[in-house]
Amino acid sequence: MLATRFTELVGCRVPLQLAGMGPLANPRMAAAVTNAGGLGQVSVAARNPRFAADVLDEARALTDGPLGANILMPFVDPKTVREVVRAAAARARVVDFFWADPDPELVELAHAGGALACWQVGSLGEALAAERVGCDFVVAQGVEAGGHVRGRIGLFPLLSQVLDALRIPIVAAGGIGGGRSMAAALAAGAAGVRVGTRFVAAEESDAHPIYVAALLAAQPEDSVYTEAFSIGWPNAPHRVLRASLEAAQAFEGDVVGEIYVASEGGRFPLERYEGYPAMQDATGAIEAFPHWAGESVGSVSRVQPAGEIVRELATEAERLLRRWS
Ligand SMILES: Cc1cc2nc3c(=O)[nH]c(=O)nc-3n(C[C@H](O)[C@H](O)[C@H](O)COP(=O)(O)O)c2cc1C
Repeated sequence: MLATRFTELVGCRVPLQLAGMGPLANPRMAAAVTNAGGLGQVSVAARNPRFAADVLDEARALTDGPLGANILMPFVDPKTVREVVRAAAARARVVDFFWADPDPELVELAHAGGALACWQVGSLGEALAAERVGCDFVVAQGVEAGGHVRGRIGLFPLLSQVLDALRIPIVAAGGIGGGRSMAAALAAGAAGVRVGTRFVAAEESDAHPIYVAALLAAQPEDSVYTEAFSIGWPNAPHRVLRASLEAAQAFEGDVVGEIYVASEGGRFPLERYEGYPAMQDATGAIEAFPHWAGESVGSVSRVQPAGEIVRELATEAERLLRRWS
């Protein structure tokens, strides 16, 4: 059993946090990760503030264990963000923020609702700010990470900085797709790991089969760091599979397909270079949608249940760490 400050704080058995991943981290996936001993998370950021309660209630019906509520700040209306945090804190063990300056008022709201607060950060300065405003732990994201990338340096140089400077527990994110990298992060002093890309190919994921097939075939060097998919969210570097970037570049036309957005309850056209994942219910040129993936994509080799992924990482990390103890 890998007991850490993260598992003690959160009340889980495995020091692994499922990344918030928009519609990809759905209630079934979150519950499966939690039921396997990790911290499952759902993404609750939406223009409709009711969405947070609905999606968390759906996950709660599938597990009694701790859940996280991920709030991707650019996608919440500043007028309703407090309402979203209150709804999240009433239902989740952790309210998890990303892509904004750490905000003491939101952290306090999470605490007032009985939840822990955490902030995913990409630099030492941001990590110190998160600690200062009262976060219970921070997630340090290296530049290897999939999806949107706050980090500008590799995970281990960042971990070295933040582990020396902060007192609160640090969770490591970026490039962790298997037991080896999980063991390395824990051995370095991280209290847990946050994993995204590996779960996109989980059985519970509603990712489009073309996106999943691309992940299964990809190697770490196929993940590229770019700002190309910037419509709807500019100035936000991210990692996608190179082939999807090239397909978007070669695509002729303004609209690549159509998506269903659950929080809005409707279908919408997806513009070329717009940042929405290719879900099963999307139509159109799926190969030109952003295929989000970090360098950890090299560890995605088959479709398997999310719980099995958690157990595989935990068992392998524990085996490797025991060799040194
Ligand atoms: C498909 C995908 C979508 C993501 N969406 C979000 C998100 O909505 N909120 C968030 O906090 N992080 C998001 N991230 C970033 C993750 O929180 C995390 O930093 C990253 O997945 C870690 O790197 P890895 O993909 O190598 O595991 C996303 C990552 C991926 C792969």
